[in-house]
Amino acid sequence: MRISARAERIEPFYVMEVAKAAGTLAREVAHTDRPMIFLNIGEPDFTAPPLVQEAAARAMRAGATQYTQATGLDALRERISGWYAQRFGVDVSARRIVVTAGASAALQLACLALIEAGDEVLMPDPSYPCNRHFVSAADGKAVLVPTTAEERFQLTAAKVEAHWTAKTRGVLLASPSNPTGTSIAPDELRRIHEVVSQRGGVTLIDEIYLGLSHDDAFGQTALAIDDNVISINSFSKYFNMTGWRLGWLVVPEALVPVIERLAQNLFICASTISQYAALACFEAESIVEYERRRAEFKARRDWFIPELNALGLTVPVLPDGAFYAWADCSDFARRLGVDGSWDFAFETMKRAHVAVTPGRDFGTAETGRFIRFSTASSMAQLQEAIARLKVMAA
Ligand SMILES: Cc1ncc(COP(=O)(O)O)c(C=O)c1O
Repeated sequence: MRISARAERIEPFYVMEVAKAAGTLAREVAHTDRPMIFLNIGEPDFTAPPLVQEAAARAMRAGATQYTQATGLDALRERISGWYAQRFGVDVSARRIVVTAGASAALQLACLALIEAGDEVLMPDPSYPCNRHFVSAADGKAVLVPTTAEERFQLTAAKVEAHWTAKTRGVLLASPSNPTGTSIAPDELRRIHEVVSQRGGVTLIDEIYLGLSHDDAFGQTALAIDDNVISINSFSKYFNMTGWRLGWLVVPEALVPVIERLAQNLFICASTISQYAALACFEAESIVEYERRRAEFKARRDWFIPELNALGLTVPVLPDGAFYAWADCSDFARRLGVDGSWDFAFETMKRAHVAVTPGRDFGTAETGRFIRFSTASSMAQLQEAIARLKVMAA
């Protein structure tokens, strides 16, 4: 069967090979004194809090399971709008909010609405692999721009300017980022948006980890800059609802009918049960729980990163959000006689029974030196992982 060039352009997810190998080994070592510790998983180790679960059950019992409008339940759009006001002090009209099946659907809609065949979109290297694939699925081309630790592994206005060509349509940023957990400084983001706007481009920003920000200097939404910024967000991370498949995007008012038309045709709507459940995310009791969990993520970061640094798994920039650590493993790998982060990941898996994610999927610049740790595991597991890595280093 002839496969479309579009589908062929989507690269395989190499980390799945690591995850598969980790899964196989995990079964073998499950009943030993060193079961596998999974620090390769990019989702919270918490599930939806009680009020959210009850709201889902109530919706199901009441038979509130028909399609909603493509833009989502108005009540939910209002709640999200209220969250922007309360948490960020930013006025985002509910009319500009479109509820989607996760950030993934939001990114697809934004790319399909804005990218013509051959358009180029600048994004940092390293960045979340699917983001470049959303661009190529819309027949655009993701241009990965190598970044440095000094730049917090993010694009700068100077680099956007330097890489802008006649084909460039805009930028796709993620702040805080996956895999680094680092954000763009607000002033730099403002400058980037200026450069993009002056050239008639679009600023797309994936703010899926914004709720899990650990530093007030960075924890502001890019929507505070300008109504023309397009922000993508999700119930997956801060709201701990990965498998419920619910997210949203905020677009300029003129773009809402376009996104609505695409959403109607491509998805009909996001899961109705999840939408009713998500209304309860914004109840005071749920927010208290989410904030407790956010503090837990921060406590893990505060303990884990210095331990990694002490081991020579250097984290060049302290993550200000999310639950990742982007660590340079080249020295540690050399000491083990291993070359590069791909082999290092297999080595830690086999010798320490600790699964981590090698940098390979996140770009090409320096990803052969870096691995991503996820701290979405209990403190006890993180402590055990560090103890095992110390034995490996000895
Ligand atoms: C940066 C980033 N964007 C988007 C997504 C997709 O999230 P969702 O579950 O909302 O589709 C992820 C998931 O890991 C992510 O890390």
